[in-house]
Amino acid sequence: MKHADLLILGGTVITPNGTEQIDIASRNGNIVALGALQGEWSADTSLYARGLHVLPGIIDSQVHFREPGLTHKEDLEAGTRGAVLGGVTAVFDMPNTHPLTLWEADLQAKLDAAQHRAWCDYAFYIGGSAVNAEQLQNLENLPGCAGVKVFMGSSFGDLLADEDAVLRKILQHGRRRMAIHAEDEARLRERKAIVEASGNLLQHHEWRDVESALKATRRIVALAEESGRRLHILHVSTAEEMQFLAEFKHRISVEVTPHHLTLAAPDCYRHLGSLAQMNPPVRAQHHQDALWQAVREGVVDVIGSDHAPHTREEKAQPYPRSPSGMTGVQTLLPIMLDHVNAGRLSLQRLVDLAAQRTISNDWIASRSGWTPYDGKSITGWPIHTVVRGQIVVRDEQLTGIAGGQAIRFLETPEGIPARPARSHSQRKIMP
Ligand code: DOR
Repeated sequence: MKHADLLILGGTVITPNGTEQIDIASRNGNIVALGALQGEWSADTSLYARGLHVLPGIIDSQVHFREPGLTHKEDLEAGTRGAVLGGVTAVFDMPNTHPLTLWEADLQAKLDAAQHRAWCDYAFYIGGSAVNAEQLQNLENLPGCAGVKVFMGSSFGDLLADEDAVLRKILQHGRRRMAIHAEDEARLRERKAIVEASGNLLQHHEWRDVESALKATRRIVALAEESGRRLHILHVSTAEEMQFLAEFKHRISVEVTPHHLTLAAPDCYRHLGSLAQMNPPVRAQHHQDALWQAVREGVVDVIGSDHAPHTREEKAQPYPRSPSGMTGVQTLLPIMLDHVNAGRLSLQRLVDLAAQRTISNDWIASRSGWTPYDGKSITGWPIHTVVRGQIVVRDEQLTGIAGGQAIRFLETPEGIPARPARSHSQRKIMP
C-alpha cells in the first residue's frame, strides 16, 4: 500500500486529457498519482469529492492587498483568506502600496509580512518607474517577485511611468514579461475637466475613454516591439484594444477581469454608484460582448480580478473624489463558474460546478467588507480549497493554517524545485 499526505477521492478532475472521474494523491505538496487509487493508496487525510469538480489551483494574477500602508482597506491576511474562501490558491500582488514596491527592501518587507499570515501562495510585483529603471533587471529576478508592473496612467497611488523615454529605459532593463496598466496619462489629464465640472459618475467611462486605453496600448506595444520585450496587458476593457492585440499574440498576453465581463455601463453606475467605479472603467455592453468574443477566440490568456478594495466611506465621497476599485479575489471563481453555467464559456476553458449560492457582503473576508455582487445568485461555487496538498478550506469553512509560500517562477534563476519522479499511474494518463 502506497501512502500519501492527501487523497482526493471520486471527483471529476479537469486534466490536460479533459474531464475524468479519478482520484488524486498528493505528497509533500506535489501530485504524485492520478487514477483509480482506492485500495492501492492510504493517506493521512482523505477528501471525498464525489459530485464535485476538482480544478487545478486558481491563480489570481492581479490583486491589490494594500499592505503596507493602507491596511484599513485590505491586508495580506484578509486578502488571502478571501482568496482561499473563493477557491483561489495563489495571488500576484500589485506595487501601489505605501511605500511603493520599488526596491529589494520593499519586496522583502512584503515577503516577511506574508509569512505565516498568507492563506495561499503569493508573489509581489515590483513597480517600474524612472527612479528604479536601471536596476530592474536585478529586481525582477529576486525570489518572490512576480515581475515588473508599469502604470502608464495614474490610477490609485503615486506609481506612474508615462513618458516614452522612461518607458524605453524600463523595457530595456529586464527580460521577463512585463505587466502594463495601459491608460494614457496625457489624455486622462486633458479630459479630467469633463468630470470635474459635472461630478457625474455616468461620465467616468467618457473621461477615461476608449481612446485613452487604446492609445496607451498601441504606444507600449510599439515600444516593446523595438526592444523585443514580452508584455502582459492588464484588464483590457475595449473592443478596439482586443482587435489590435489579436495581431500581437506572439509577444503580448492579455488579461480581462470578471467585472468587465459581467457589469456594463450605464446600468452598473445606476445600480451600484461608485462601487462600480474602476480604472479602466466598466464600459458599454458592446465592449463586454467583444471581451467575451476575445475569451472564446483565445486572444485572452488570463482572468485576473484586479481586487482593489476601498472602504465604503471612501467610495461614498462625491465623484470624482471617490477612489476607483472594487473587491474581486473572492468572487472571481464563483462569477466565472456562473458564466460557465450560463453557457458563456466552455467547461474546458474554465470548469463547471452545480452548487447554487448567493454572494453577500457578509461572506467577503476583505477588510473593506463589500462586493459589487452583493445579492447575486450564482451557479458554481468553491467547496474545498487545497494549497500544495494542504486543505485550507473544507466544506466552505476555513481550516488548517495560513501556510502560503512565495511562488517560484521558471523564468528566474531560482526556477522551480526538483520534482519527484512521476508515478506509474500519473504517467499512464499524462503521456
Ligand atoms: O480601479 C483601479 N483601482 N484600478 C487600478 O488600476 C488601481 C486600483 C487601485 O489600486 O485602487
